[in-house]
Amino acid sequence: MLLHNVSETEKLAEIIGKAAQPGDVLVLTGDLGAGKTTLTKGIAKGLGITQMIKSPTYTIIREYTAGRLTLYHMDIYRVEYGAADLGLDEYFEGDGLSVVEWGNLLADSLPEDYLELTLEKDEQDPERRSVTLQAFGAQGSAFEKRILADWTAAS
Ligand SMILES: Nc1ncnc2c1ncn2[C@@H]1O[C@H](COP(=O)(O)OP(=O)(O)O)[C@@H](O)[C@H]1O
Ligand SMILES: [Mg+2]
Repeated sequence: MLLHNVSETEKLAEIIGKAAQPGDVLVLTGDLGAGKTTLTKGIAKGLGITQMIKSPTYTIIREYTAGRLTLYHMDIYRVEYGAADLGLDEYFEGDGLSVVEWGNLLADSLPEDYLELTLEKDEQDPERRSVTLQAFGAQGSAFEKRILADWTAAS
């Protein structure tokens, strides 16, 4: 998928928020400034969360309960070691939607079933992002299908 500007990123994010089902896990991969937090804010909006989403960089996790599903927003960037000791499984196995910035850094502590979304900046255009989805497991795969179908329908 190609996103031409922030509003297209927000549009995809809202679709993701609306398509999420209890227990879905979305891992966001991409460099600093790629748009992971921007995407998470849009996902929150799609879930019906109107509260301001703050980056959980120093807290690892923030939980928002005001939407259709609870949003567990995690940021693993500052976790240098001991990811296994963070107790994140409790969230991954919970009934909310887990959105994990830098989730790829969790390596062995990632759940077995999740959807990975990779954001890449464009060398030519500072507003453009390319997005790739890769599903691991049946639930991640079903989540991917719903997102792609809704994105196509909205395009
Ligand atoms: N298409 C786009 N999608 C997302 N962010 C974009 C886009 N174009 C420009 N930006 C800008 O890039 C920055 C992304 O920051 P952020 O979402 O905090 O990234 P990350 O969490 O990946 O470090 C924001 O300042 C945003 O306005
Ligand atoms: Mg971020």
